Amino acid sequence: AEKSYEYIKVSTPRTGVGLIELHRPKALNALFTPLIHELNAALKTLDKDPSIGCLVLTGSAKAFAAGADIKEMATKTFAEAYGTDFIESWSELPATIKKPVLSAVNGHALGGGCELAMMCDIMFCSEKANLGQPEIKLGVIPGAGGSQRLTRAIGKSRAMELILTGRTFSGREAYEWGLAARVFATPEECLEGALATAETIAGYSRIAVKACKEVVNKSQDLGIREGVEYERRVFHGLFGSEDQKIGMNAFAKKEKAQWKHR
Ligand code: HXC
Repeated sequence: AEKSYEYIKVSTPRTGVGLIELHRPKALNALFTPLIHELNAALKTLDKDPSIGCLVLTGSAKAFAAGADIKEMATKTFAEAYGTDFIESWSELPATIKKPVLSAVNGHALGGGCELAMMCDIMFCSEKANLGQPEIKLGVIPGAGGSQRLTRAIGKSRAMELILTGRTFSGREAYEWGLAARVFATPEECLEGALATAETIAGYSRIAVKACKEVVNKSQDLGIREGVEYERRVFHGLFGSEDQKIGMNAFAKKEKAQWKHR
């Protein structure tokens, strides 16, 4: 039985694919504490669910998420922010769960919304998606990894310009700069594309998929030499998995692999 949530919707639209839709339409999916608690709970539950191999995170056609909830933050003091590690509890989750998470970004993805999309493992956008880090206009800076992830993805000069001016950018630009893996004409096609890709990923060996995410993410933290060595160790480790035998034997016999770890 699927849990019921108030600010998100969770479903399984394709075999092996868990879909989380942010659903706080009155505030354009602004990220406030109750929504984040639900999102965390859903991500953790789907990460443990053996029937799920890949996740998709999306919003509505109008807004992926218009940012952290400005009204909730407005009166916060330094002591509250620092004392409760504001943002820390939710700023890493899509990156720390083990299954891949795709973001399907339509409409506004601003501030914390853009950061949430960038925490995901793969970003898909529609052409007219409106992304950006407008925190400068509120007298603050990105607080959930935006200055780091955007800079790594699109380069320092471009990221610096966007973060210092608060200028937003389109899904088409996100794609051209390499922030998004694919761009689609419409929000419907974007979500459809993300679900299809997630279904493909969910069809592979769970062990190999987990290892892929782990080694690609290591590239963000390690130098090239350590990163390549890390990759080789994990690669060697996979020769101890049944799925390596299953996958390679199936190729030799011209059969479809029937993964043990699915
Ligand atoms: C709280 C928000 C909100 C937000 C929109 N709303 N964004 N509430 N926090 N981030 C609310 C509006 O107040 C309004 O509520 C309703 O959603 C609809 O929004 P409108 O502004 O009427 O819609 P529209 O005219 O279409 O404009 C859309 C918009 C604009 C361009 C996205 O809403 C906007 O600029 N939002 C703020 C974007 C932003 O600055 N994000 C960064 C936040 S800072 P009512 O009750 O009036 O109907 C941040 C820091 C991250 O994210 C740090 C770490 C996470």
